[in-house]
Amino acid sequence: MAEPAVQAVVVLAAGQGTRMRSGTPKVLHTLGGRSMLGHVLAAVAPLGAPRVVVVVGAGREAVQQHLAEVAPDALTAVQEEQNGSGHAAAVALDAVGDLTGPVLIVNGDAPLLRPETVAGLVAQHRAEGAALTVLTAEVQDPTGLGRIVRDGAGAVRAIVEERDADAAQRALREVNAGVYLGDADAVREALGRVGAANDQGEQYLTDVLGLLVADGRPVGGHRAEDPADTLGCNDQRELAERRRTLNDRVLDRLMRDGVTVVDPQTTWVDVTVRVAAGATLHPGVQLHGSTTVAGGAVVGPDSTLTDTVVGERARVVRAHCERAVVGADVSVGPFAYLRPGTDLGAGAKVGTFVETKNAEVGAGAKVPHLTYVGDATIGEGTNIGAASVFVNYDGVAKHRTSIGSHARTGADNMFVAPVTVGDGAYTAAGSVITHDVPPGAMAVGRARQRNVAGWVGRRRPGTPAAHAAEAAESRSATPAAAAPGNATTPAERDDDEQGTTTR
Ligand code: UD1
Ligand code: CA
Repeated sequence: MAEPAVQAVVVLAAGQGTRMRSGTPKVLHTLGGRSMLGHVLAAVAPLGAPRVVVVVGAGREAVQQHLAEVAPDALTAVQEEQNGSGHAAAVALDAVGDLTGPVLIVNGDAPLLRPETVAGLVAQHRAEGAALTVLTAEVQDPTGLGRIVRDGAGAVRAIVEERDADAAQRALREVNAGVYLGDADAVREALGRVGAANDQGEQYLTDVLGLLVADGRPVGGHRAEDPADTLGCNDQRELAERRRTLNDRVLDRLMRDGVTVVDPQTTWVDVTVRVAAGATLHPGVQLHGSTTVAGGAVVGPDSTLTDTVVGERARVVRAHCERAVVGADVSVGPFAYLRPGTDLGAGAKVGTFVETKNAEVGAGAKVPHLTYVGDATIGEGTNIGAASVFVNYDGVAKHRTSIGSHARTGADNMFVAPVTVGDGAYTAAGSVITHDVPPGAMAVGRARQRNVAGWVGRRRPGTPAAHAAEAAESRSATPAAAAPGNATTPAERDDDEQGTTTR
């Protein structure tokens, strides 16, 4: 097996992040679906370093908990007091005292760093046989960053922090990216000599470079191809800028791969999302987590999908979806809320003002309007009437409703779970379904209508309603009392109970 490019990666993540003005440790702020720390770890992951050490300090419980989720193999080293980046690096190297060979040290607040940029640094470091190589960038505005000081021959001589720099040094636009590749022994030894005689009274990791230069050791600077890769993130405005840059990169990649992004300005896609060629994202779409969108699918406008699977040619319009599976050719929305455990079979429809949760909706089944489907199975080809509620909660426990295939349930039904409606069954509009309905039956679960003839004329005389009724009666050949439904003992009828089953 080939030697790994580096023996260890050290991520500096103990700083307060005071400038964020946030209770959340800086490196846990998220952009593009990962924490800053997560992005840094992803950028160095292809190196395959045998050890990854994250230096934690401020907010360390939260950082350690996060690491347990996203990088369970990472070691942590605790920096009790934040005495500077040099001190942090020393704490890490102490924690892996037996470490020799190349070690990559990287600031935890470099969320735009990419594997190819790290690879460029590694390649130059190896080619030059350097003791230390620092990643640098030429930037328009170097404010606040450490400047790279080179000699007349172009060799790197020092890194000077802005607050310790003279006017000539401040004018330099090549800056330190906060990513260093060095020989573990050389770095460890130099760190032992780093003082704190600077404006902040901290031990600067950047001083290691000058010390090695003074020792006559070979030191290099690798300019990043894309300076954006090296940008740190120190406050909320920078976080928003980094987030925008990251999103632009993601959308760029999608568009190159054949995804139609109608409005890149209002479309936000996490780095972890996959969208196939031929899919369309309309304005106001946010795709998060493990969401995947298949070819021919159309998402948006104004839809947020988290950990959701969208099948081929499906349409998702003005919807909020979480951990849902939307099958091929499915139609969702406008104005739908798909909650975890929703699974829509091919060609199904979940329409307007519909909420679903733990709901399996069979192929071609439709839930078109104003309905809550919770803890339910709906068979293929079934139609659920408008304004229905799957009554899944008895105040203590949740229960399931099962509706068979090709059933037609009436509008305004309550399915009081646990309850089963058989294949091909019908239910009447306005029914409260509390008992199982056998296959092929028509269930009627409502009070029969009773009309009290002439009530308005007697009880509300002189009102516009009474006048309208009188006028209607005088026009009508059929006296009101003889209209259907007015019989005092109506015969059972089985042909018109259902009312409107919507389609
Ligand atoms: C640092 C560099 C600067 C570079 C810039 C790039 C130093 C002295 N300066 O400046 O040259 O241009 O990054 O973004 O390193 N940290 C600890 N423990 C500490 C102090 C810091 O772990 O005691 C960590 C922070 O969490 C952060 C990193 O080290 O991830 C850098 O610290 P930060 O305060 O952000 O340094 P900058 O001022 O940005
Ligand atoms: Ca920083």
